[in-house]
Amino acid sequence: QTEKELIRESWATVNQDPQHHGIVLFTRLFDLEPDLVKLFQYNSTQFCSAEDCLASPDFLQHVRKVMLVIDTAVNTLENLPSLQEYLIGLGKKHQAIGVKTESFITVGESLLYALDKGLGPAFSTHSREAWTKLYSGLVKTMSCGWQE
Ligand code: HEM
Repeated sequence: QTEKELIRESWATVNQDPQHHGIVLFTRLFDLEPDLVKLFQYNSTQFCSAEDCLASPDFLQHVRKVMLVIDTAVNTLENLPSLQEYLIGLGKKHQAIGVKTESFITVGESLLYALDKGLGPAFSTHSREAWTKLYSGLVKTMSCGWQE
């Protein structure tokens, strides 16, 4: 199987329930970097805990948005450069929100964690490598939106 096939196949499984796997991703992310919870503010209100954040409908919309960006990338594997402009803009927005580029690397680790939990033994070393490449590419492009 090619890397693209491995990515499409594993995503097809995870994307049957994007909300669930997205929550697994963000639960892991907040375990690794609890301070990220503070960056999610809706109506200028901070969440008191990761649990509160993970239960908020506004935050769940963000989970949906993240999974949709990944879905778009998976559906655009043949022409990822076409997403460049969008991803750079998305990077800029996240810089304005206060996200550091390093945190996007932790998101990548959390994504691998969620794929691992979701796919179990079906998540092979080869597909892990394929996902690592795809995600690093996305982060690299988004990071172009960060300015000193
Ligand atoms: C918007 C935080 C990672 C995709 C936002 C917003 C916040 C935020 C506070 C604005 C409120 C909202 O739309 O809910 C974060 C933090 C992240 C993170 C703290 C982790 C470090 C990501 C990742 C993606 C992503 C990895 C996609 C790969 C989006 C999108 C929007 C958004 C598509 C909407 C942008 C728009 O309105 O044009 N993010 N985010 N976020 N985020 Fe994130």
